[in-house]
Amino acid sequence: MPRGGENTHFGFRQVPLEDKQSLVDDVFHSVAGRYDLMNDLMSGGLHRAWKDVLVNTVNPPKSGRPFAMLDLAGGTGDVAFRMVQAGGAATQITVADINPEMLAVGRARAIENGLDDAVVFTEANAEALPFPDRAFDAVTIAFGIRNVPRIPAALTEAYRVLKLGGRFLCLEFSTADLPGFAALYELYSFNVIPALGRAVAGDPDSYR
Ligand SMILES: C[S@@+](CC[C@H](N)C(=O)[O-])C[C@H]1O[C@@H](n2cnc3c(N)ncnc32)[C@H](O)[C@@H]1O
Repeated sequence: MPRGGENTHFGFRQVPLEDKQSLVDDVFHSVAGRYDLMNDLMSGGLHRAWKDVLVNTVNPPKSGRPFAMLDLAGGTGDVAFRMVQAGGAATQITVADINPEMLAVGRARAIENGLDDAVVFTEANAEALPFPDRAFDAVTIAFGIRNVPRIPAALTEAYRVLKLGGRFLCLEFSTADLPGFAALYELYSFNVIPALGRAVAGDPDSYR
């Protein structure tokens, strides 16, 4: 396929657009088994609170009303499990992720916790979803949008699969702009996180 010459970001590097997905896939292939533990260690457990904000904002119905949600780039199912626990008996979550290793960890977690009826794991690229139009009441993506090479394509797909009146919610990191805190955070992310990646996942590069 001819190269279009367009670049995009991969961490702090600029890479050809068509190379990004395989670089992202290598990262999550490498860290899948330790992904959940690393999230706890890197954020001091804070990712749980951030995900709870997302779940509370979606606010799945507690009644028996059917509620179908798609969690894009849902990885090991962390958001999906929280959503099912917050919702009623007819809450049904589809986790879509491009990485089979992350999905395999998620499926095992679902079986372990007896949630495999309520949470379905599907291998899919957020840029070209294998779901019909207007299938979901809500679409979420947590810490995933920055990994998708063609974000407008993923947003178009999210819109297509949402029912009329459905909601799209995106949870993502921002930049630290508080003076002092930004420098402290930079120190942490450039030194502590790769060191944790080396010690726990045996892979400092994926956490750089
Ligand atoms: C940082 S993880 C987030 C996982 C999960 N949402 C969470 O918050 O724990 C990013 C996920 O995005 C997935 N991903 C990357 N590119 C994707 C794409 N084009 N389509 C679907 N998933 C993708 C990766 O495989 C990985 O599981």
